[in-house]
Amino acid sequence: MEKISFYLNGKQVKLAIDPSTRLLDVLRIRLHMTGVKEGCGEGECGACSVLVDGVCYNSCLTPVANVMGKHIVTIEGFRTTKQYRIIADAFADFGASQCGFCTPGMILNAYALLKNNPHPSEEEVRIALSGNLCRCTGYNAIVKAILEIAEKGDIVW
Ligand code: FES
Ligand code: FES
Repeated sequence: MEKISFYLNGKQVKLAIDPSTRLLDVLRIRLHMTGVKEGCGEGECGACSVLVDGVCYNSCLTPVANVMGKHIVTIEGFRTTKQYRIIADAFADFGASQCGFCTPGMILNAYALLKNNPHPSEEEVRIALSGNLCRCTGYNAIVKAILEIAEKGDIVW
């Protein structure tokens, strides 16, 4: 056991924990952030995405030791932001979420994309989301929702 500390949705967390524990398990089991989903557990589906210092990580592949001192945002924290509302409204308008299992990861990856590239091409959107699997929507609705946000063009990310 080691003492590990990081910031979760703006609040400092200190844990005595095996440093090799998956961040996914720390978030879901220890800290009850169940908006972080486990799909594949192998870095293939993106359901477990979280922001670490503003960059999307697959938490299933990230040992908790790697986030020491860093700022983690899960969908629970992100949903308090105006950027979440913009993305979630666009997803609703375009039917970009059905069962919802992939949606937290999709939204966080959409945010990470738009923050760095507010006017992505369709190809850039598809590449940015290529690590996020969705079994329901066929992807087109998700891509259209993100392009619609980009087209509005007046959003500060
Ligand atoms: S559960 Fe982490 S990428 Fe699938
Ligand atoms: S909405 Fe069901 S997996 Fe994407």
